[in-house]
Amino acid sequence: MSREPHAPHESALPPGSIPAPDASEGDVNLSPRRGEYLARAHGPDTLALLQRDARVYLHQSLSTPCLNALASARGSVLTDLGGREILDFHGNSAHQVGHAHPRVVEAVTRQLASLPFCPRRYTNEPAVRLAERLGGLTGGRLPRVLLAPGGAAAMGIALKLARVATGRFKFLSTWGSFHGASLDTISIGGEAVFRRGIGPLLPGCEHAQPCAPSSCALGCGGRCSLACAGEVEDILEREGDVAALILEPVRCTTVEVPPPDYFRRIRDACDRHGTLLIFDEIPTALGRTGRMFSFEHFGVEPDILVLGKGLGGGIVPQAAVLARDDLNTAASTSLGHYTHEKSPLGAAAALATLDVIRDEGLCARAERLGHAWRARLRGLIGPSGLLREVRGLGLLVGVELTAGHAAATADLCDRVLYGALERGLSFKVSDGRVLTLTPALTVGEDELERAAGILAECITRAKK
Ligand SMILES: Cc1ncc(COP(=O)(O)O)c(C=O)c1O
Repeated sequence: MSREPHAPHESALPPGSIPAPDASEGDVNLSPRRGEYLARAHGPDTLALLQRDARVYLHQSLSTPCLNALASARGSVLTDLGGREILDFHGNSAHQVGHAHPRVVEAVTRQLASLPFCPRRYTNEPAVRLAERLGGLTGGRLPRVLLAPGGAAAMGIALKLARVATGRFKFLSTWGSFHGASLDTISIGGEAVFRRGIGPLLPGCEHAQPCAPSSCALGCGGRCSLACAGEVEDILEREGDVAALILEPVRCTTVEVPPPDYFRRIRDACDRHGTLLIFDEIPTALGRTGRMFSFEHFGVEPDILVLGKGLGGGIVPQAAVLARDDLNTAASTSLGHYTHEKSPLGAAAALATLDVIRDEGLCARAERLGHAWRARLRGLIGPSGLLREVRGLGLLVGVELTAGHAAATADLCDRVLYGALERGLSFKVSDGRVLTLTPALTVGEDELERAAGILAECITRAKK
């Protein structure tokens, strides 16, 4: 196996420590500000519910114990139990059409009243229409579909399909990536926070350095020589029998946007070595980057595409695997034997979501608003002296801060996050350095402006 860039820690970090630089996902449970925030921000009802939640749910990083409790969600706004409104620029990247979009709610409600569930061996009209529609969105190039109840499950299907179709078992993916939290997907994933202390992972999983222009580990500096593409080429050449290369075309957490040349080289390398190219677009498809699929920015196409998250309109769990027609070669293998497979409810939600994205022009809207908002953020945050870069595509926006060294930057980002939460803005901190901002694509321009103001204020205050 290729070398892991950050040695995974075997034990959890002690309470009160700042997220380690190798924890790509910001974990609010590790913050020293957490206790103070809970005491200051919440009334007795919220605190009591948080305590009941912490008593009954298994504790795990990145979720339980929780920070707050919600009462409702609509559009870009969450309302907590105390009645406070929070702009949701996190949304688990599942709210492209905003929370509780009326057309999605209506479609789901209608479906609930007729056929809410479809046992295996039967099909149903919405599920067939969804598969046809998804195939159509790829211009008919990925017309074969399997549905699944979640992203990791769909990734598992893609991996099995690649094994059956190629007769090979090895996978190549990148350090720093995330493809789900199941044992197979953490094996191809590259984040220490998911891999450490969990025991043996899937054999045959190779990892290359990602194309991460903001933090290239291969020493390209300002003069990129695409050494990362070279590493992928070398591993495919050396192994000679890799079933699939799995990539997030745009790394969602730290918002890394590779140059098109990277994709041309890896596509060519895959074709040369008979390796299938799987794009994981679970958080980045469906308009997030200003195109229906983020790979459309780069002029290459995958052999297998995986969708999830916002596909169910942020309401019903729904994911999908789209594949080339000639990969329909596993009829005698159960690729995804999921109870909620051809879910009429999920399909109704997905069809309504796709209608909303088309009818409200959300791809073009994300492109236009994202461009203007990134410029606005640069203007507002730049004078703080703490801004390294604002980057992104569409309404996938990363604000990278720097306070000199990694621990100080992680502390700065943590202070900005807690300041913003108190002022009614939620987002994610990635790798202790990037504020990852993923508003609904239906977000109002006034809401973008409010969020930019909150960020600028919190960064200025954090500096003092
Ligand atoms: C890139 C990527 N792949 C896969 C997944 C897993 O999706 P799910 O949480 O639905 O299993 C996620 C979820 O965050 C993701 O961001």
